[in-house]
Amino acid sequence: MIEKSTIRDPELADKGWKKIQWVAGRMDILNEILKEYEDEQPLAGKNLAICLHLEAKTAYMAYVANKLGARVAICGSNPLSTQDDVAAGLAAHGVEVHSWYGATDEEYREHINKVLDIKPDLIIDDGGDLVELVHTKRKDLIDKIIGGSEETTTGIHRLKAMENDGVLAFPMMAVNDALCKYLFDNRYGTGQSVWDGIMRTTNLVVAGKNVVVAGYGWCGKGVAMRAKGLGGRVIVTEVDPIKASEAWMDGFQVMPMQEAAKVGDFFITVTGCKDVICREHFKVMKDGAVLANAGHFDVEISKPDLRELAVKEEEARNNIQLYELADGRKIYLLAEGRLVNLAAGDGHPAEIMDMSFALQLSSLLYLLDNKMTNAVHKVPVEIDNKVARLKLKSLGLAVDELSKEQEAYLSGWQHE
Ligand code: NAI
Repeated sequence: MIEKSTIRDPELADKGWKKIQWVAGRMDILNEILKEYEDEQPLAGKNLAICLHLEAKTAYMAYVANKLGARVAICGSNPLSTQDDVAAGLAAHGVEVHSWYGATDEEYREHINKVLDIKPDLIIDDGGDLVELVHTKRKDLIDKIIGGSEETTTGIHRLKAMENDGVLAFPMMAVNDALCKYLFDNRYGTGQSVWDGIMRTTNLVVAGKNVVVAGYGWCGKGVAMRAKGLGGRVIVTEVDPIKASEAWMDGFQVMPMQEAAKVGDFFITVTGCKDVICREHFKVMKDGAVLANAGHFDVEISKPDLRELAVKEEEARNNIQLYELADGRKIYLLAEGRLVNLAAGDGHPAEIMDMSFALQLSSLLYLLDNKMTNAVHKVPVEIDNKVARLKLKSLGLAVDELSKEQEAYLSGWQHE
């Protein structure tokens, strides 16, 4: 597929394929799914368009989908998260790839359009860009699309808005909202990989530092938990009083960003909102503050405000931009304010993405077997349970089973 692909450098294929093989050996659930369905070829004759962070785990899922019969085309869901070697490795093994690291906005759009040129029957999206394009500039494709699945919180918000406006033109499975997704990927995956990205980029110590986590949703919980484990003093900022109370009960300080801005050494935004850290916060930050975002879009930390306030801007180190303010204070922004774990790291661990991507492929198979309305659908509990059981199997763990008497007791039949 190299010749059909839009990639930076085909020469990187061997290096990328090694990265894909490294994760393939650790994605046991996907391997089980491949074993279960390979003979049946359930995706035969189907074109699958994927827009996801293009690193090794995603590549392996695309490879498995291809092995299950689909013609697959893939692009990155963020201009800074594509790994060029992985893109080349995947393109050398049967998948059409249109993506490169550092794509301009125009190139990014072009890549998504090229993926859509395969005229998909099925879609896997991350953040909603693919689905949005189909509903705006590529409406001609709608009739052929059976449905798709969405990977992240922000994408689900966009899809639900489309559903409420009555414009969603095909069914979408909310993979993000499955238990085996957000309890693991958002919480433990983001928790670990955000710190991996920050630490490998800055090479700074976390212990004893004030770490401000904006947003105490599933991702924020993981980021805060791991910051505590690293010895950080964690402060949570929130807009939801229940989440804020939860953060307090979990042992974290809670305060408004205007207060936290004065004391933070590290700041991580993970809200799905915009302008969470902006002008008034930069004005009171300590010299040397390090800022990173883990939310889907690069709008949580206001780059326009930072640029306006800065008298000097330069690259301090790979993936670290220094902004010097008029009074000499220096503020450092990681990975241009894009998802730090992907733009400055390798994303979530393989064993975690194994669960998310098993949900993705299982959701596509479900869409093929069931007539669904043009709405955002929950992933059925049977799929969630199957993924959880396969996860336990891969860990070599077992659980107890209810006896008939226990089942009856729990369902209340034998209550006096
Ligand atoms: P969530 O909905 O569980 O949590 C978001 C939290 O942010 C909520 O508690 C909300 O009250 C809070 N919030 C909203 N606006 C705020 C503001 N201005 N200040 C402080 N808090 C605010 O969402 P989840 O699953 O934690 O996802 C958050 C973001 O991270 C989304 O954009 C999602 O797409 C993205 N995400 C990123 C991943 C990564 O690999 N970096 C992985 C999964 C999701």
